[in-house]
Amino acid sequence: MNKERSSFSSRIGFVLAAAGSAVGLGNLWRFPYLAAKYGGGIFLLVYIILAVTFGFALMITEIAIGRKTRLSCIGAYKALDKRFGFLGWIAALVPVIITPYYCVIGGWVMKYLVTFLTGNALNAADGGDFFNNFIGFDAGSIPATMLDFSGPTPWFLIYVILTTIVVAFGVEKGIEKASRFMMPVLAVLAIFIACYSLTIDGAIDGLKYYIMPDFSQFSASTVLGALGQLFYSMSLAMGIMITYGSYMQKENLLEHSVSQIEIFDTLFAFVAGLMIIPPVIAFNGGDPSKINAGPGLMFITLPQVFEKMAFGTVIGTVFFVLVLFAALTSSISLMETIVSVVIDKTSLNRKTATIGVAIVVLIIGVPSCLGYGPWAGITIIGMQFLDFFDFISNSVMMPIVAFLTCILIGHVVGTKVIADEVEAEAGVFHRKKLHEVMVKWIAPVLLILILGSELATKVFKIFTI
Ligand code: PFF
Repeated sequence: MNKERSSFSSRIGFVLAAAGSAVGLGNLWRFPYLAAKYGGGIFLLVYIILAVTFGFALMITEIAIGRKTRLSCIGAYKALDKRFGFLGWIAALVPVIITPYYCVIGGWVMKYLVTFLTGNALNAADGGDFFNNFIGFDAGSIPATMLDFSGPTPWFLIYVILTTIVVAFGVEKGIEKASRFMMPVLAVLAIFIACYSLTIDGAIDGLKYYIMPDFSQFSASTVLGALGQLFYSMSLAMGIMITYGSYMQKENLLEHSVSQIEIFDTLFAFVAGLMIIPPVIAFNGGDPSKINAGPGLMFITLPQVFEKMAFGTVIGTVFFVLVLFAALTSSISLMETIVSVVIDKTSLNRKTATIGVAIVVLIIGVPSCLGYGPWAGITIIGMQFLDFFDFISNSVMMPIVAFLTCILIGHVVGTKVIADEVEAEAGVFHRKKLHEVMVKWIAPVLLILILGSELATKVFKIFTI
């Protein structure tokens, strides 16, 4: 079957779409929390060093694999070495697991945006009841539950429809167009909120904590925390960058583009920290431990902070528009990765493939949607559905995929395959030596450490509960 492969119309279109994939909920609710937990400035420093070494090496590898083979992840790994075909299947399974629960959280964001837009911000600032009643709703029978806007299901449905529409329009007319619009808006909104946050009384203490490295706080967990976050943040090891690379035109400069994506993602994470850390610390009497993890930060703590701010409803509304855009550009890339596999492997056209994938996403998303409410009694190794899907993809499958990718490139086909692709247009690969050493030796060791520490933490938790 010889189908013409879609492509981004320009290099900047590609960079914006890939940066859109990278910048997501991970930057907004995971990065600030980790930075606060692991000592502020020192975490930031370690993160930046790892981003330009480890993150760079893995990202350029994936994008080059995609551009070289011009295939989605299943075909791409197989084309490099037949024995590694299985790896493409595992990589493709990651977005199948992540997309549904990511869209469930996207639906939560929409609910909050509408709550703020309709002047009900105060309700959301009640210290957790609003959020817990929303996700932990119990509207009686399942059919009633599905249609009840006080629960998460209809929001999830609307969010999936939005993502589906963009993906159905295709690479250039859907993904590239949406990213060209949403990414600049995202950047402006983030800078606006960060500037505002820094004007709040007491923000300077939080700012100092965030940007001044305190070397006494450095430990192995700072490095492991930063590594795990990098993965998540740069959308690595889940076929996304291979897929987007396969849509990149041959004449576009690869290394330059990867540097820009990296800078955008890291800058955005940094600005997210500026938006969140100083005000949360200021409103909690200077205590960094008040910045809690995940959903709690965005859906419980921040609404309380907005409530205490002047113009809090406006700032909160702008903030949730920003979160929605960041989440959408990421879920679009997650869904596109699955659609691209389906198009490559079947004779379906894009529209049919996208609708089919959307239906599967909706079905797999139901347990995550109902998992804190009517289905709260059901757990898998002690976790609710959403937490389980997050754990198995991020903590287990992604490190395995990245590790085996390093082995394939570093020790089976050779890093020259990637270097040749990078050099094809530019003629040079500035960080070639770094790439080689990273992919062959350092990254595999770091990846095993991430996998080991994530599994050990989980086993420890299971046995101490
Ligand atoms: N990189 C995006 C983010 O930081 O939100 C997208 C993403 C990565 C989503 C990993 C989900 C995930 F597990």
